[in-house]
Amino acid sequence: MSIQLTPLPLSPKADPVKMAEFGREIKGVDLNNVTPTQFAQIREALYKHEVILFRDVKISPADQAAFTKAFDPTSNGYGHAFDPSVSEISTRLLQMHGIPGVPEVQLIGHGTIFNHEGVARADLNHPTHKEFHKTVVSPEDEAKGYTRYYRWHIDAAFYDLSPPRVTSLYGAVVPKGIPQIVRYDDGSGDELPVTLGATAFASGNNTFELLPAEYKSLAVRMKIKYAPHLYAWVNNTHAVSSGIAIENEGLEVPLGDLPPWTEEKRKVLSALWKNEVTGKLHFQVHPSIAHELLIDPLPAGANRTNALYPDGAHITDLRTVRDILFKIQRPGIASNLVYAHDWQKNDLVLFHNRGLMHSVTGALKDDDIRVFHQCNLHGSDDPAPPSAEDVKKYA
Ligand SMILES: [Fe+2]
Repeated sequence: MSIQLTPLPLSPKADPVKMAEFGREIKGVDLNNVTPTQFAQIREALYKHEVILFRDVKISPADQAAFTKAFDPTSNGYGHAFDPSVSEISTRLLQMHGIPGVPEVQLIGHGTIFNHEGVARADLNHPTHKEFHKTVVSPEDEAKGYTRYYRWHIDAAFYDLSPPRVTSLYGAVVPKGIPQIVRYDDGSGDELPVTLGATAFASGNNTFELLPAEYKSLAVRMKIKYAPHLYAWVNNTHAVSSGIAIENEGLEVPLGDLPPWTEEKRKVLSALWKNEVTGKLHFQVHPSIAHELLIDPLPAGANRTNALYPDGAHITDLRTVRDILFKIQRPGIASNLVYAHDWQKNDLVLFHNRGLMHSVTGALKDDDIRVFHQCNLHGSDDPAPPSAEDVKKYA
C-alpha cells in the first residue's frame, strides 16, 4: 500500500505560500511494520515537510526508539547526556525521566503518574512561561485563555554531542485541548490561537528566506560557539515574552562555576544547516545558549555595500550576540509562520530537529494529566554547513 500525505490543519493566519509545504499527515503506514520503501518515503516527507504526523498509533517505547534511530542508524544514545552534576544545576529548565531499558525515550508531560511503561512513579511538570519569562500573563488574562510560548529551541545538548536529526513525540495521555491564545506581548500585537498544550513549530528555512540580503550574507558566514552545559548556564535567567531570546540581566552562571567542562567539547556550529534532502538552508541557532559569534570576512570579490561585518568578527559581548540573533530569529516565529499541533491521544509527531525550532505552549492545571514519550538520539555527525556555492551565492 502506498502512503498518502495530507496537509496539516494550519491556523487561518498561516501564510499560504511560506507555509504551503510545512507539515503533513501520513496515512497508509503501520509504524510497527514499515517497509524499506515506505521508510524512504517517510524520510523524504520528513525533510521536505519538517513535521509529520501519524494518528491512532500504538507503538512501544522500544519500537519508537528503533523507528527514530532509523533516521540516523549509527547514532547511539539520547540527545542529552546523563550527567548528575549537570542535572543538579539545570533542574529548572531540563527535567529527564528515562524509560527503563529504553533511555533514548523520555517521559515528559504533566502530573504524577504511576506504573507507566515500567516507571513506578514520575512527577512531571509541563513547563510554563510563568517559570521562565521575565514578565508573565496576568491571572485575569490567563483566566481568559491567554498564554505564551515557553522557550523556542532545538532538541540538543550543544556540548560534546551532535544535534539529533529527528525527534519523535508520542501522545500516550493527552488532556482535553481547550482553546487558548498565545500572546507575544512584545509590542507587535501578534497572537496565535492554539489548543491547550499545543507544540509550536517554526521553520528555520522560513527564518532564513525572510532575511534581507545583508543578513543572509551574515548568516552564511556565521558560526555560533555555544556555552557548555546549556541549561545549567542559563538556569537562573529569564526569557523575553516571545520565548525566542534571553533577557540581558547578567544572571548566567559563570562558566567557571559550572560543572566541569572542557574547551574541546564545546560546540561551534554554523548558523545555517543544510537540509540533507532538499539542500535548503535553515537558520538553526539555539538562541538561549549561544555564547559567541564567529563571522568570516566576505569572500574576495563580494559586494561590500551595506555588508555587515565585511572584514569578519569574533563577537563575545553577550548582549550583541543576542541582539543579532533576535533580529534574525524573531521574524521567523511570527504567528503566520507557526504551526501549533493540537494533540490527540496516540498521535506520533516526528519533526526535523535540524530544520525547525519548537516550543511548548500553555499552562496545564494541577489535575491535568499528560504523558508523552519523547525520543531523540544525538546525531552521528554535526549538521552540514552551507556549501561553498551557498557562500558564493549569499555572502
Ligand atoms: Fe524540545
